[in-house]
Amino acid sequence: MKKLNVGLVGCGFMGRAHSNAHRKVGNFFDLEYQPVLKAICDFNEERAKSHAARWGFESVETDWKKLIARDDIDLIDICLPNNAHAEVAIAAAKAGKMIICEKPLARDGKEAEGMVKAIEKAKVPNFVSFNYRRVPAVTLAKRLIEEGRLGRIFHYRAKFLQDWTISKDVPQGGDALWRLDVKAAGSGVTGDLLAHCIDTALWLNGSIEKVNAMTETFVKERVHQLTGKVQKVGIDDACAVLARFANGSLATFESTRYARGHKALYTFEINGEHASIAWDLHDLHRLAYFDHRDEGKLRGWRSIHVTDHGGDHPYMDKWWVPGLQIGFEHSFVHQLADFLEGLASGKAARPTFRDALETQYVCDAILHSAKTGRWEKVKTV
Ligand SMILES: NC(=O)c1ccc[n+]([C@@H]2O[C@H](COP(=O)([O-])OP(=O)(O)OC[C@H]3O[C@@H](n4cnc5c(N)ncnc54)[C@H](O)[C@@H]3O)[C@@H](O)[C@H]2O)c1
Repeated sequence: MKKLNVGLVGCGFMGRAHSNAHRKVGNFFDLEYQPVLKAICDFNEERAKSHAARWGFESVETDWKKLIARDDIDLIDICLPNNAHAEVAIAAAKAGKMIICEKPLARDGKEAEGMVKAIEKAKVPNFVSFNYRRVPAVTLAKRLIEEGRLGRIFHYRAKFLQDWTISKDVPQGGDALWRLDVKAAGSGVTGDLLAHCIDTALWLNGSIEKVNAMTETFVKERVHQLTGKVQKVGIDDACAVLARFANGSLATFESTRYARGHKALYTFEINGEHASIAWDLHDLHRLAYFDHRDEGKLRGWRSIHVTDHGGDHPYMDKWWVPGLQIGFEHSFVHQLADFLEGLASGKAARPTFRDALETQYVCDAILHSAKTGRWEKVKTV
């Protein structure tokens, strides 16, 4: 087995999800490459040290530049707030490191273009962590569509709903709340939540040609944690989008942090000529499927428990026995397994940085349309 020395930057929510994946992937998948937890980096030294102790990293860095300069690091895994993705990824590419980067790739398309240019110039393996592609039920949806079971697609409908910023007392910026600071995040729910829906949609249903969107910032001012002052809020709190795909299908997308009662309700439904599929993150191991070609008396929505083995249900033969489901964290193990398999086979796992640029362009068009009030074309990659 070849060793792959990992330098992971950022030990918050995603730092934990990625560390878990690096530790587990070799236990469950037969791979040529084995990740080695060589170094963890976070500018919060105490957090980095405790993360290293808990997850078994061999060393700690507090400056990502030093991490990138190390000869004993092969892969830089970026789990930082959005404003740090570009600088770290471009420096890592220049140093010849492989890169896994959390989503969204950047704060906007222009910033993402610089990243794509850098990794393509350096010709380094690269991957963006749109992890929902690797939830087995979502991967199964992709297979059903590729088999032509749905026929012509008419509708794509997706939403991602949360409710954690409704109180006007939630501050913006700084540690943990960088998502509410437009300078750090780039945008609000569009880049944070809707980007997931867009990535899945592009993967399942092809390119989006144009969008018409509205956004709203319900709480206009919040205390900024870094300045202590009440400052204007620059992010979008909610976003509603009409879209047209290149294949002629119509779409609606919605994301918000103001849907009381919802914590992370990501759902999508696709309606085709012959069949429909639907998926719900709260029940992530199930795929709903309706096939009009079924015999009339049995026709109806079936709820497929995506846990079967024998190659029928993606990734599941790597885990327990049929009938036992898995969860959110496994999608990170799966994407890492695919990334490592791609290194061995030479066939890059996707989404690459270039793939993620397309999502970025859709998000840009959405935010632009929300300003102009007009239909806006999506820039082509
Ligand atoms: N794929 C998913 O489902 C998913 C879920 C959550 C977040 N994300 C993405 O992951 C990224 C990180 O989000 P998170 O929720 O883990 O954030 P977080 O706030 O939980 O963690 C970020 C960590 O980075 C550290 N940090 C910040 N700037 C740094 C710097 N310049 N140098 C070193 N350390 C620095 C912080 O101290 C913190 O420990 C974001 O891009 C976010 O959009 C993806």
